[in-house]
Formats: sequence, structure tokens, C-alpha cells
Amino acid sequence: MQLVTEDNITELAQQRWATAKDPRTAELLTALVRHLHDFAREVRLTEAEWMAAVRWLTATGQISDAKREEFILASDVLGLSMLVVQMNHRFDPEATPATVLGPFHIDGSPELGFGGDMSDGVAGTPLYLTGVVRSLDGTPLPAVLDVWQADADGAYEAQLPEVDEARLRAKYHAAPDDGSYCVRTIAPKGYSIPMDGPVGALISQTEISHFRPAHVHFLVTADGHEPLITHLFEEGAEYLDSDVVFGTKQELVVAFEPREPGPTPDGGTSDVPWLEARYDFVLQPCARQ
Ligand code: BEZ
Ligand code: FE
Repeated sequence: MQLVTEDNITELAQQRWATAKDPRTAELLTALVRHLHDFAREVRLTEAEWMAAVRWLTATGQISDAKREEFILASDVLGLSMLVVQMNHRFDPEATPATVLGPFHIDGSPELGFGGDMSDGVAGTPLYLTGVVRSLDGTPLPAVLDVWQADADGAYEAQLPEVDEARLRAKYHAAPDDGSYCVRTIAPKGYSIPMDGPVGALISQTEISHFRPAHVHFLVTADGHEPLITHLFEEGAEYLDSDVVFGTKQELVVAFEPREPGPTPDGGTSDVPWLEARYDFVLQPCARQ
């Protein structure tokens, strides 16, 4: 019989998990055991603390459902989601950087033409997002831009019980000849992550700001290129320096320039003042084509 001691338990646990049939699972689990044990040793974890952690994990699972992923939120605020994004999307420095997907993307958004209005009557300052999608070598790309955002109060439709249909989201096609796109929407507002669950309870014990700066989400896809999940952030927005999910990157900050009533980039006219943000998306070609 193998006697278990404080000194050999890590080695024994790693040996057991190394028997996983899939080599990658074995690698992941043995490393997890090693790091968990190192963590417990480093902080001299007490039994009360271990139990508090178990209770927190249980609550995190219990509050999660089809609309709420509290574990992903936990990963986001710990910086793990953004670390995983960055390790797995090491694009050329000239390519548009990736950031977190977030919980509010849904498949099957309505398709709109050039300059189509995805705000569809939702109140707010009109915002036109315009530019081109191109490859690293400058070739224009007939990309699909899947766009979604919060409203002028910082709310997504999933957070509004009275809204039961897609809102402030649409798919646009960049023009095949020059890669140009034009999104008509309203200016989004920054917002707080959900603070009524276990993640919020932890954050409340710290000085951490629980807000995200104003942003619009994009999932940009084009043949032969890595899908790009990213955001555009409003220059000068509150919380740019303290995004609670670490998603902000300088390259993704764009000016929302004020414009007088008059002609708009879709060829129409606005009777009210509006905003224009210009941004060219540069996609990373796939490594193997
Ligand atoms: C979002 O940008 O939609 C988001 C990302 C991470 C956590 C919460 C919200
Ligand atoms: Fe968001």
C-alpha cells in the first residue's frame, strides 16, 4: 500500500491523472493538480477557506442558466478569458486584434444592407460605423460583419424582460469590390457586469470597478482568414483604463466624431446631429490555406 503524506500527495495525484486515455487530457489534469496543490501550499489554505471556495463554485453553477454564464464571467474578471484569447490569436501586429466574445452574441442575427439601421427605432444618438475590411496585404475582403451592442442605457436585450426579440444586432456584408461596410446604429453606453451573483459578491469585496467602457462588438469572417472577434471602443469613454474584463486594447479605440445634421455615409440625410466612427478591419490570413 502506498502511504500518502503531505510531501508525496501531489506526485501521487499527478500519477493517477496521468492515466487519462487522451494525452492532452492527461497533460491538462496533471498540470491542474500541480498548480492547485502549489496554490494550496503557497497560501496555506485552511479548511474554512476551502469550504468557502466550494460554496462559491456551487453558487456560481446554480445561478447559471441558458442566459447567464457565471463561470465565464468569473473567467472574464480573473483575466483568464482575455489571456486565452491572446494566446490563441497571436495575429500580425498590423492585423486588428481580437478580444473577448462576451455572453451576448447570438447566432442568426438579421441581415441588413449597406447602411441598414440595426437600431430600428431604439432611442439614442445615431452612430455610423464605416470603413473597409481588408487582408494583411491590403486586398479588400467581401467579409461578413456580425455586429451587436448594448443600448444607450448600457443594456442588452437579454437583460430586459420586456424585450423578447433580437435588438441592436445585425449582419452586414462588406462590398466585394472595395471591402467597404457601413453600419447604422446608436451610440452604446458603458455598463456594469451583473453584480447580483457570486462574481459580484467577490468584486464587491475589492476596489475593482465593475464596469465596461462603451463598445460595439464585431465578429468578422472572410474566406481564407481567421475569424476575428473584437470590439470597437469609444475614444474618451469612461472605464477605458479599467475594463472589468480586461478587453480593451489601444488599437480598438476609435473616435466617435460629432457631425451636424446633413448627408450621412449611407447616402441618406440625418435631421439630427449624428456620430461617425471610421475603422478599417485587417484580417489575418489562415496559416494553412
Ligand atoms: C460584453 O461585452 O458583452 C461582456 C463581456 C464580458 C462579460 C460581460 C459582458
Ligand atoms: Fe458588450
